[in-house]
Amino acid sequence: MHKTKIKHLLSSDTPVKGVQIKGWVRTRRDSKNFSFLEINDGSCLSGIQVIAEEGLENYDHMRRLSTGSAIAVSGDLRPSPGKGQKWEILASHVHIYQFAPETYPLQKKRHTDEFLRTMGHLRPRTNKFGAVFRIRSETALEIHRFFHERNFIYLHTPILTASDCEGAGELFRVTTLEPGDMKKDEADVYSRDFFGRKTHLTVSGQLEAEMFALALGDVYTFGPTFRAENSNTSRHASEFWMVEPEMAFCDLAENMAFAEQFIRHLVSHVRTCCEEDIGLFARFVDPSLMESLAAIIEKPFIQIPYGEAVEILEKSGARFDFPVSYGKDLQTEHERFLAEKHFRQPVIIHDYPRNIKPFYMRLNDDEKTVAAMDVIVPRIGEIIGGSQREERADVLDMRMAETGLDARQYWWYMDSRRYGSVPHSGFGLGFERLIMLLTGISNIRDVIPFPRTPGNIDF
Ligand code: 4AD
Ligand code: MG
Repeated sequence: MHKTKIKHLLSSDTPVKGVQIKGWVRTRRDSKNFSFLEINDGSCLSGIQVIAEEGLENYDHMRRLSTGSAIAVSGDLRPSPGKGQKWEILASHVHIYQFAPETYPLQKKRHTDEFLRTMGHLRPRTNKFGAVFRIRSETALEIHRFFHERNFIYLHTPILTASDCEGAGELFRVTTLEPGDMKKDEADVYSRDFFGRKTHLTVSGQLEAEMFALALGDVYTFGPTFRAENSNTSRHASEFWMVEPEMAFCDLAENMAFAEQFIRHLVSHVRTCCEEDIGLFARFVDPSLMESLAAIIEKPFIQIPYGEAVEILEKSGARFDFPVSYGKDLQTEHERFLAEKHFRQPVIIHDYPRNIKPFYMRLNDDEKTVAAMDVIVPRIGEIIGGSQREERADVLDMRMAETGLDARQYWWYMDSRRYGSVPHSGFGLGFERLIMLLTGISNIRDVIPFPRTPGNIDF
């Protein structure tokens, strides 16, 4: 008996005797002496048609198989005389794991994304979410392959940490103290906590990745990060995955070129390798998807300094909820205006004012700006944030003081600027935002298996 996945059977060149598939019933149609079952096993978007004939020993059970039921089918793969499919299986044996009752919530019809979010445990059984998570898996694997082929070392940075890389204070505290353990006005309650000091979940693996880049050359991390931003937007999650390459002997220009190459490579790979799944999004989610993916692959990204971006926005005459002016951080609406309306393609904005960026970014010679860069794409806004890092100990010291960081806590980070410090750069790519870009999906909640956002931690 040859047990296999539907994906492989559907790409067969010849009929095959003695195959077995295991999966879930999508639909059943009955004729006089047989039933058609459409089975999906998650291996690809398409299901396979099964013919269950009267001669089966449990034929009377076939008529009770409704959407969601779990079965194993043994039989022969043969050309299908019906329209719309090349192959079908003529069943010789059908084993039923479990009948799904008529109350199965995902009866075959279109469900809204909002409804399916309340069914997080079942939504991967739908065509759309099956496709999202196959693409997510393929993309993750390709990211590893991309770095591996370029001799990057894959680094696991800690999830529990005492540093706040971004200095934005969006931290989830981690403690083993109970609320009642905290005495009122106690000076240093954290000294009694598990790690003996204030601890939280990481917002970025960058600082640790820098230490390894300054030893191993080119490294990257790819892991979960956590931010307690209370912004309920369609682009922010409290738990999301970030890809962070960090490269020694690398300046901002090289960093930007590498980020562009990285995005372009991934879009191009996924467009080819996940053709069937991407096709579903082009048909049902974003009719302009293929066009926008092609634009990313074919056109070089625009690069403009922050100052010019602000000028374009000021002169645009467009109305924004947040006014634009030099020295203020760009909001999503501004970023989207630039990428969607003005340039109609990805844009890299670089050299931001020092006062709106974290301490670790390298101060430019003008002393007003830092060597920062953000990659902005249509529909999403910022997908990558990165910079050249401040490698000069004295300047770093000054920037820490200026941004209100306690340099004693970051003594190890400072040390790296004393013993063989070199120019180095890196960036962070929001993995979910990349999947949104690849699929045309507009809400981050629909590209994470079990999304965590303010007030939502079901499943
Ligand atoms: O721009 P950010 O904050 O950069 C850093 O954390 C740097 N330490 C990265 C580095 O240089 N190694 O975040 C990087 C990216 C953003 O561009 C965005 O795509 C994504 O992470 N991101 C989020 N994605 C989903 N939900 C959130 N709340 C996100 N916050 C940032
Ligand atoms: Mg950013």
